Amino acid sequence: MTVLLATCADLPHGEPGSEALDAALAARGVDHAWAAWDDEAVDWDAADLVVVRSTWDYATRAEEFLGWTRSLDQSRLLNGADVFSWNHDKAYLADLGTLPAVPTRLTSSPTEFAAAIEEFGTAVVKPRVSAGGAGLIVVSDPHDPRLGQTLRSHPTYPPVGGPWIAQPLVESVRTHGEVSVFVIGGRVVSQVDKLPAGDEVRVHEEFGGASRPVPIDPVVAEVASLADAWLAERFERPLDYVRVDLLLHDDEWVVSELELIEPGLYLDVLPANADPFADLVVARLG
Ligand SMILES: Nc1ncnc2c1ncn2[C@@H]1O[C@H](COP(=O)(O)OP(=O)(O)OP(=O)(O)O)[C@@H](O)[C@H]1O
Ligand SMILES: [Mg+2]
Repeated sequence: MTVLLATCADLPHGEPGSEALDAALAARGVDHAWAAWDDEAVDWDAADLVVVRSTWDYATRAEEFLGWTRSLDQSRLLNGADVFSWNHDKAYLADLGTLPAVPTRLTSSPTEFAAAIEEFGTAVVKPRVSAGGAGLIVVSDPHDPRLGQTLRSHPTYPPVGGPWIAQPLVESVRTHGEVSVFVIGGRVVSQVDKLPAGDEVRVHEEFGGASRPVPIDPVVAEVASLADAWLAERFERPLDYVRVDLLLHDDEWVVSELELIEPGLYLDVLPANADPFADLVVARLG
């Protein structure tokens, strides 16, 4: 049985700390290799299972990436191309039905940006397709020049189709941080809390943020389980892995993002996350 773990050219051996996943797979007798998703020399059909792991460069080449996921045998791919297609565009955040989530508006014009600022006071504007917090701005003035720059940065200016989302700035990100809850094979397995530094709202290490594993908080675990169940209904099958990111908004933990493509497992600070993930791989190999 061979498993191919899809990564990107910049991370040939996966995310920081991925030796833990290598070890967990080896301990279970799983023969595996890392391969960049866009490496044309790779024979993906030869794998018994393809696992999308750290394809962190896909946001700037989304159509190419999604085309690649569609070209794979879907019965031997975790989560699946339909899930990836839905999840790569943050417009899904405006379409979560009964799930508690950060209020999200699709925005494509100065008028819509102004309406979002009017509604939220201070708004977070971010591209619908992005990763690593790229292109995110915090604005409270509809005449803020950065909004114009954001508009003009769009490849097909004037933009069509609402290429950004706007949300209220959830202030508690500075105190309570953003929480990631991992649901693997339908089970809540772990939690990582992430805090930004200084004036920044982005929790990423590149922006000075810090992540640490914490015991599972039953309140956030319940929201994560709700999200997992909602997704199972939406896709008419249980998902293999789900990372639910949450923010504390108006005293309630709500979904800020569902990471269903290539969620970081934070293996550098939580190497034990490799075990449930390796168990999932073994279960799917059958
Ligand atoms: N509405 C918000 N209120 C407060 N902070 C926010 C809000 N939206 C995003 N952030 C902060 O900005 C970070 C990046 O936003 P988001 O995760 O939506 O972007 P991303 O480009 O998909 O990043 P990643 O790929 O790492 O998930 C979040 O992790 C969070 O710290
Ligand atoms: Mg995020």
